[in-house]
Amino acid sequence: MFESVKVSSRGKARVLVVGQFKGEKLDAETKALDGDGSIVNASKRPDANGNLGSIVVVNDSNGYERALIVGLGSRDGFEAGSLRKAAGATGRALSKACATSVEFQICAALGKLKKSESIATFTAGAMIGEGLGMLSWSFDSLRGSATDLPAKTKLAVHSCCQAFDDGVERGLGFAEGTNIARTLSQTPPNIATPMWIANEAKKMARKSGNMKCTVFSGKKLEEERLTGHINVGKASENKPCMIRLEYTPARGKSKKPVVFVGKTMSYDSGGLSIKVGGGMVGMKRDKDGGCGVFGAMHIIANVIKPNRPVVALLVSAENSISDEAYRPDDVLTFRNGVTVEITNTDAEGRLVLADGLCWACEKENPEYIVDMATLTGGVVVALGSVFGGMWCDDDDVRAKLDEAAEATGELLWRMPHHAKYNAMMKSPIADILNSAPVREAHPIQGAAFLTHFVEEGVKWAHLDIAGTHALKKDSEFMCAGPSGFGARLLADLVERS
Ligand code: BES
Ligand code: ZN
Ligand code: ZN
Repeated sequence: MFESVKVSSRGKARVLVVGQFKGEKLDAETKALDGDGSIVNASKRPDANGNLGSIVVVNDSNGYERALIVGLGSRDGFEAGSLRKAAGATGRALSKACATSVEFQICAALGKLKKSESIATFTAGAMIGEGLGMLSWSFDSLRGSATDLPAKTKLAVHSCCQAFDDGVERGLGFAEGTNIARTLSQTPPNIATPMWIANEAKKMARKSGNMKCTVFSGKKLEEERLTGHINVGKASENKPCMIRLEYTPARGKSKKPVVFVGKTMSYDSGGLSIKVGGGMVGMKRDKDGGCGVFGAMHIIANVIKPNRPVVALLVSAENSISDEAYRPDDVLTFRNGVTVEITNTDAEGRLVLADGLCWACEKENPEYIVDMATLTGGVVVALGSVFGGMWCDDDDVRAKLDEAAEATGELLWRMPHHAKYNAMMKSPIADILNSAPVREAHPIQGAAFLTHFVEEGVKWAHLDIAGTHALKKDSEFMCAGPSGFGARLLADLVERS
């Protein structure tokens, strides 16, 4: 869509954007901007209905190449997130017009919100920045000589005031982290191997200046008894690793860290319990829990810079097939002493997560842990691509996750833990099975499995994002493909902690 989107105050923008609520006339302040009356005239046209994301184009308006009246929807249902959608529609119209600069003057319309509905100017800017930034994502690096890429323009964003500009900067920063997650997700498995991802993490840490990256691979995995990685990753030439990113704050170093654990399967063929019937295609995206965590760390280190440490563990392997592959019937002993009988090598994510959770509890002294994973197809059946599944019995962490979900639009739905689900995971010869023989409640079985690797008393949330990590269709400010789910959510969560 755009080659880049940047805040600017240089010169005059070529396109002006104003807002109009559904069923309402333009507000007085917006009218005052309209010296030649062209915008007011256009706002009376039948297509100027104010529907959220509707766009009315006014050519040659008030010295601008054109003005856009963007619909803000009905005043009653208005929320900050409506502006991401408005930004998506505006961005598409700007791109169509090959615009290189735009001036947002929507605060005038927003200023008319009742107190109970009012949103801060900064937040309004942030939503516009997020929407435009996420809309601009594309993945063209693998287009070859047989593709003519469409020309892209750089977009300079002007606005009415500093607070809005600052908001746009923040929103663009949140979008950048999300887009980094999407680019990693989209990168194919013959390129994005575990060690390649580790290298990307090292580069990010170096660039940010306030993060450290350590990679555990080969002998180190043995020394640290990271059993899940060793076994799940055995069959692949692309060797497994656990990537540890640590953000160190300027102040608040001694606080306990928030710890994220991201499932980062560079490919999930199912292993010997091979995926059939087209189930394998798209499994390059089985790294999306880790990609979301990666993107969140980028936002944390570069935008939020919180006064507390944050640690990310990307638990990474390729689930492949060879004579060295781990197999159904194997029994694995984890670092906390729990033994697992393998019944299905396609339930591999929980095995690498188990390493990460054990490690987080034993080594990181966490304030709380959030793991994020494309863990089960069952959660897609249950919640589709609207909500991620959330298992969290700690009221405080759950409340923060709920708030972060509301603020970022990355929605979560609470799912249960219960002893009866844990009972389903019992093994006749080891402690637990990695997958119970019955298909019922698969996503909950996954969460029940993970409880065995979180120490008593440690606050923890498990997020199953197998439904939300990718989108089938273009919508609002997103396009079909990887959604970068969780990058903004986890960054926002840290800000609330
Ligand atoms: N990576 C898959 C889950 C998945 C499914 C991710 C769809 C993204 C989209 C996971 O490793 C898996 O294969 N899960 C099995 C679990 C089962 C074997 C216990 C599943 O969902 O069927
Ligand atoms: Zn699998
Ligand atoms: Zn998987």
